[in-house]
Amino acid sequence: MKKRKKLKIKPLFIIILLIIIIFIFLSIPKKNNPPKKQIKLTEEEVKMKKLNNINKKIDYFNNDYIDRYISYKEKNPDLSITQVVKNVNMNLDYNYYENTKETNINNKDLILVNKYYYLKEDYVPDNLESINVKNANGDRKLVSNAKKAFEELSNTAAQEGLNIIAMSTYRSYEYQVNLYNRYVENDGKEEADTYSGRPGHSEHQTGLAVDVYNKNETYTNFEKTKEFDWMQENAYKYGFILRFPKGKEKETGYQYESWHYRYVGKEAAKYIKEKDITLEEYHATIIKDW
Ligand code: DAL
Ligand code: ZN
Repeated sequence: MKKRKKLKIKPLFIIILLIIIIFIFLSIPKKNNPPKKQIKLTEEEVKMKKLNNINKKIDYFNNDYIDRYISYKEKNPDLSITQVVKNVNMNLDYNYYENTKETNINNKDLILVNKYYYLKEDYVPDNLESINVKNANGDRKLVSNAKKAFEELSNTAAQEGLNIIAMSTYRSYEYQVNLYNRYVENDGKEEADTYSGRPGHSEHQTGLAVDVYNKNETYTNFEKTKEFDWMQENAYKYGFILRFPKGKEKETGYQYESWHYRYVGKEAAKYIKEKDITLEEYHATIIKDW
């Protein structure tokens, strides 16, 4: 009897023992992986994290502008970081005419003149030439390359029965002083700034810009003419771009001007047209001469 009892208790004891062992095993806290050694990020790395390390992906990222990128992103949280970088590269985080810089004239045909970059008062292009009178309404000058390209453009259009005539081309600093002052007198400064460059800030001083008309319509109606359609199709082939397009007012700083074309050379003109960008964007992403 005693023996039988002993035999019954033993497996039960083993089972209980096993349960206790399993319980103890499960309740032992699992050994955590040793904590990773905290790597201390440099100040710049912390900043770059805020910008999703975009510098590794876009080649027009400017390390000197990191703080400006961060603060612009904070003010414009809906913009992608790529757009933030591009806009800051175009100085859009500054108000117009704030933090202006003398432009780099070594950019030649690609000189950028706008509300952030200016030409000095005494800057006069050294290779100005008069446009053939049949292509202009008087003695109008452009720099040599632009002059030749414009005559070619205007002559080709003429063969198709179209008049693309230079109306305003190179304008000196002093000329722009008078023009701008007159506009301010007539319309006030705020309004004048939407359509006229302040002295030193008009790209007409580069000798690379040309306002055109078709002889019949006033230049402000150029958009309604066949000549405008032709320019839309062909201007880039001669190295010209529509400089202040519709929808790009914030970037260029000016209202849409269907009559104002800018010589940038054939290669840049083709690229700018194909990508549907402005000269500002071209500088911010391709030239990068900050
Ligand atoms: N009308 C253009 C913006 C200029 O004055 O240069
Ligand atoms: Zn113009």
